[in-house]
Amino acid sequence: MVQRRFPKVRDLAPLMKFKAPELNAKKRRLAAALTIDDLRKIAKRRTPTAAFDYTEGAAEAEISLGRARQAFQDIEFHPSILRDVSTVSTGWDVLGAPVAQPFGIAPTGFTRMMQTEGEIAGAHAAARAGIPFALSTMGTTAIEDVKAANPNGRNWFQLYMWKDRDRSMALVDRAAKSGFDTLLVTVDVPVAGARLRDKRNGFSIPPALTLGTVVNALPRPEWWINFLTTEPLAFASLDRWSGTVAELLDTMFDPTVDFEDLKWIKEQWPGKVVVKGVQNLEDAKRLVDIGVDGITLSNHGGRQLDRAPIPFHLLPEVAREVGAHTEVHLDTGIMSGADIVASVALGARFTMIGRAYLYGLMAGGEAGVDRTIEILSEQVARTMRLLGVNSLEELEPGHVTQLARLTPIARQATDAAAAVPARRSPASVGASSPAAVSVAKATAAPKKPASPKKPAAAKRAPAKAATPAATPAKRPATAKASKLP
Ligand SMILES: Cc1cc2nc3c(=O)[nH]c(=O)nc-3n(C[C@H](O)[C@H](O)[C@H](O)COP(=O)(O)O)c2cc1C
Repeated sequence: MVQRRFPKVRDLAPLMKFKAPELNAKKRRLAAALTIDDLRKIAKRRTPTAAFDYTEGAAEAEISLGRARQAFQDIEFHPSILRDVSTVSTGWDVLGAPVAQPFGIAPTGFTRMMQTEGEIAGAHAAARAGIPFALSTMGTTAIEDVKAANPNGRNWFQLYMWKDRDRSMALVDRAAKSGFDTLLVTVDVPVAGARLRDKRNGFSIPPALTLGTVVNALPRPEWWINFLTTEPLAFASLDRWSGTVAELLDTMFDPTVDFEDLKWIKEQWPGKVVVKGVQNLEDAKRLVDIGVDGITLSNHGGRQLDRAPIPFHLLPEVAREVGAHTEVHLDTGIMSGADIVASVALGARFTMIGRAYLYGLMAGGEAGVDRTIEILSEQVARTMRLLGVNSLEELEPGHVTQLARLTPIARQATDAAAAVPARRSPASVGASSPAAVSVAKATAAPKKPASPKKPAAAKRAPAKAATPAATPAKRPATAKASKLP
């Protein structure tokens, strides 16, 4: 029988941890968000459906994005024990200059439509965190204003080549004059992807006031008050537009752009050039021959070609084959600092976040972007410590196994075709696809012998039925745009 007694004040006192309640609702909201997905949920509550869906949505059936996120979930980490991880450094050089974190803010169009503070919020937050901010050609803040918001930090300008090349290059010129250090040339939008959510929502730029949007606004008054009482939505670099996003892209963009054009663009830019949207090894090699400073493995967050290769799956082989000649960056699907650490371990020098940044922005403007960066930074540092490493340089492929659940099925076709060469049709779907070849080679690659200097990796042997990550070549300390032999 349990003996009971009256509680004594002296026993209860140490348990009482009442804190003064946080009166600022935004601070309370953001502090309660512990993950990027928490920020996403807040963002969804506070943003009109059409603007939220424009941000969250991807192309066609949105398979690419789901797979990219799944691939990150299917990571298995291999930690080492008994390492002194009292200090951890999350910075290094990217494109010849320091970054405080191995991630930066990806270029996104129409950003002020998601939340009125838009790019300025992103640039301020990036400045505070010591990470690069990328302004899109379709941005809603002027190049010079972004520079003013991040005067001493790193600003990158993302170029879409328009049919009117003089106007495109005038933007490039303005970005160079404003001191942007890197030109990101996006190459995966020859035409607009089919963003079906936008069609279903009747989404247009600027957002149209219809009965539906007004009703949708009722529970989200702050967005509408911001929208109606601040500078009208205009493009940093375009005249006002009225129509759907897809119409805009198809009207403006030049579908004839090719490698020769890229060479020419590169000659016009005084700083670093990174090509964003690379999706196979052959293209990566051609870009190295052109001498670009970096490539971004990306499928545009799944917003262009649906069922495109998963950038994280391409990473090991591309990093191994071209990582000694150019920096390999990666985006698409990143929702956690652990995704970033895994990418660095498999050979990425840098990663970019699109939606993770925008969820923060929609959840709480500039403070929300700060929260996104804070969450990811803490996750990066914690994951590194738990893996037993003190610096990004110590991360290596042995720290990560990409589990087999999402291995492209075409790999089996490749293996089968190799076994029966006579029956292989050159046109056979998937068997000759770059992704299939990439994974087949990655799987066949012998595991890198552990470096004697890095005991952390020495006994790491992925034992499970899994796809071992291929071993990238030794990572260059800084970008070297040398030609492939
Ligand atoms: C709402 C939105 C707008 C975007 N606009 C652009 C753009 O103007 N230019 C560009 O190169 N990429 C654009 N992207 C793609 C991002 O730069 C990045 O590749 C992608 O968001 C990464 O995937 P994630 O959202 O899963 O992080 C956009 C992405 C989103 C979500």
